[in-house]
Amino acid sequence: METILIVDDQPEILHSLERQLREQYRVLTALNGAAAIDLLRAHETAVILSDQRMPGMTGVEFLARSIEIRPDAVRILITAYADIQASIAAVNQGRIFYYISKPWEPEELDLIVKRAAEQYRLVMENKRLSAELREANRRLEDENRSLKKTLAAGVSLEEVIGNSPRMLRVKKLVSKILDTSTTVLLIGETGTGKEILARAIHSNGCRRDRPFVVQNCGAVPETLLESELFGHVKGSFTGAISDKTGIFELADKGTVFLDEVGDMSSAMQIRLLRVLQEGEIKPVGSAAVRHVDVRILAATHRNLEEEVRTGRFREDLFYRLNVYPVLLPPLRERPEDIQDLAAFFLEKYCSRLKKRMKGVSEEVIRLFRSHSWPGNIREMENEIERAVTLADQDAALTPDLLSPRFHKFTGGAESGTGTGSDLKAEVQGIEKRRILEILERNSGNISKTAAELGLSRQGLHKKLNRYGIQAKNL
Ligand SMILES: Nc1ncnc2c1ncn2[C@@H]1O[C@H](COP(=O)(O)OP(=O)(O)OP(=O)(O)O)[C@@H](O)[C@H]1O
Ligand SMILES: [Mg+2]
Repeated sequence: METILIVDDQPEILHSLERQLREQYRVLTALNGAAAIDLLRAHETAVILSDQRMPGMTGVEFLARSIEIRPDAVRILITAYADIQASIAAVNQGRIFYYISKPWEPEELDLIVKRAAEQYRLVMENKRLSAELREANRRLEDENRSLKKTLAAGVSLEEVIGNSPRMLRVKKLVSKILDTSTTVLLIGETGTGKEILARAIHSNGCRRDRPFVVQNCGAVPETLLESELFGHVKGSFTGAISDKTGIFELADKGTVFLDEVGDMSSAMQIRLLRVLQEGEIKPVGSAAVRHVDVRILAATHRNLEEEVRTGRFREDLFYRLNVYPVLLPPLRERPEDIQDLAAFFLEKYCSRLKKRMKGVSEEVIRLFRSHSWPGNIREMENEIERAVTLADQDAALTPDLLSPRFHKFTGGAESGTGTGSDLKAEVQGIEKRRILEILERNSGNISKTAAELGLSRQGLHKKLNRYGIQAKNL
């Protein structure tokens, strides 16, 4: 039953209205604007019905003030014929739903009040639905967020490829702390496998059945990072429309992987230190601390010792994170792993792209071994994904499938590389290697190369064609 407030300075009118409406509504009455305002403050009200002519506050003035207190209530003004002109402007601006002129027919009043109550119900229903929708969306977002961060958590140690002495050392080191809650600091250049190793540590340890949640601490504004990590309470800052659980709580009894931990601001470093020291977090805007049980794995491509020396990273936090450092060597320092990694990624992308391929050619491995891999394993993975995409069904992964930086200058025809079995082939092999060498030195410039070899440009072109040499610039 909706509440209706009736305001009129004449008690007889007030009571006759009350009698008429009390069957269908809960009726409140007031003899003047001031008393009506007190009632509004105390009661949620659907419809306000006010006389215009009253001593003190007029009906229009009272209705205007009622907006502040009950913005959603539907307002009706009762006005004598003589006052209509004066009230029209107020009706137009004052968010008044309707006016009733005196004298009124009881059925007419019934109908208008009924419509007003209906309108109020609709507005409230609408509000409730949008609030529910907002809440549902927020929950979905939260769920989505934790799902995304937890997804693909399972990595076995065998999936971390590498049998080079340096990788074997890394794996041995890691195997010792799987079933502990020791904080591990993974250090390495971009693409060296810090995240895959963190996942492997989590999914082979005693917390494997609990969440593994990743947070990148670089490139996230401080306030956002704080609320991501620790959560916030509703209203703690603009835009905090509801409570949010931080990832330290989402990951309770599991693992939090703090990526790019060296990029945290000094204020965030202090807050993280508190988690590491006390196992406590404080959501933004909340006074209460909460206890969390998480294992922290952290990664950085920075030299944190250097950052400590230059004052950019807190020394106390460094010691808390650096309990068990694991250094991931760059790919150029473990060429022994190249073959295995290439085969692994070939298989991975063949199955993903539904292709059959004949393996990685020797030539490609040779090119890979002489490459410096600034993007490390991720760079190789991308290179192979690209090659598999380009390759024909049943082909082998050959140099022509690689991106230009791998074959600035390559010999396409394998003939005449000088096996020594016949003189002509041997001479041609020497000639080809000499041309490639001088072409390389002159960055592919045909005129300079020709001049140096004592050939005409045309003559050089003929030889390039014969040996299948393509001069490609990056
Ligand atoms: N030893 C490995 N065996 C198999 N795949 C690997 C290995 N190392 C890295 N990868 C793959 O290479 C890609 C990059 O690895 P990852 O994301 O772990 O590197 P990262 O060190 O975290 O890099 P960044 O510092 O740029 O974030 C991933 O797709 C990962 O699965
Ligand atoms: Mg990473």
